[in-house]
Amino acid sequence: MTDVTLLEGLETTRSIRRYVLEPLPEADLNRIVFAATRAPSGTNRQPFRFISLSHEGKGAEARKLLGEAFRSSWAQKCRDEGWEISLDERADSRRGRMLQAMEQYVTNFERTPAILLACFKRYRPLNHAEGASIFPACQNVLLAARALGYGGCFSGWHFQVEDELRELLGIPEDVELSLTITLGRPQGSHGPVRRRPLAELVYEDAWESSPSWAVDPPGTRFTRGGPPEKQA
Ligand SMILES: Cc1cc2nc3c(=O)[nH]c(=O)nc-3n(C[C@H](O)[C@H](O)[C@H](O)COP(=O)(O)O)c2cc1C
Repeated sequence: MTDVTLLEGLETTRSIRRYVLEPLPEADLNRIVFAATRAPSGTNRQPFRFISLSHEGKGAEARKLLGEAFRSSWAQKCRDEGWEISLDERADSRRGRMLQAMEQYVTNFERTPAILLACFKRYRPLNHAEGASIFPACQNVLLAARALGYGGCFSGWHFQVEDELRELLGIPEDVELSLTITLGRPQGSHGPVRRRPLAELVYEDAWESSPSWAVDPPGTRFTRGGPPEKQA
């Protein structure tokens, strides 16, 4: 157990893609999914289901399917974005570190300490808030993992092998495969996440009207997209 406060956890839980390749103890996985399933959902219906993929039998087969899908999705993304990485860049740029972490993530995918498939059990026809009752539980997975000294990452890269996963794991048609969540002890570390400036994200009383109190704390780090020129 770490001693991160709730607010610190919210502000510093990064996506972790590089793991120490050691088993994640079942007692910790139990604690993580218990916390996840305490999340709110519409009318407290709890339409979320988590399928944990073990390292044996069908779990191992599912990991293999996913590993191939993750590697090909990442390769496709690199082609789409025109991302190439030079050896120099690997060590000392943020982009280089990101590319390196992604490479390690997909290469070692099958050996990821814990993998959860977050599923949404549909209980009514498609509606505008489809899935909204599962994502709070997914975020709780990342936060509970953080509290216990682990880290994780969300992904939608299972979509390529969704049919095969349904068949293998017996997932019914009315169940959505919402996210793949990988978990493990971080090789790197958590730390303040980068987002757009608060004034771009928070309005008061009208669209795009930022209140004077929407100010980021000193030292906040932004994504590459922000801050806009008028605030820089
Ligand atoms: C719905 C959703 C889907 C995501 N899919 C992927 C993914 O397929 N692959 C991946 O590496 N990260 C994925 N992520 C993680 C985001 O890339 C990450 O949260 C974002 O870049 C911000 O980085 P941070 O979480 O480290 O602050 C996903 C996140 C969300 C919320």
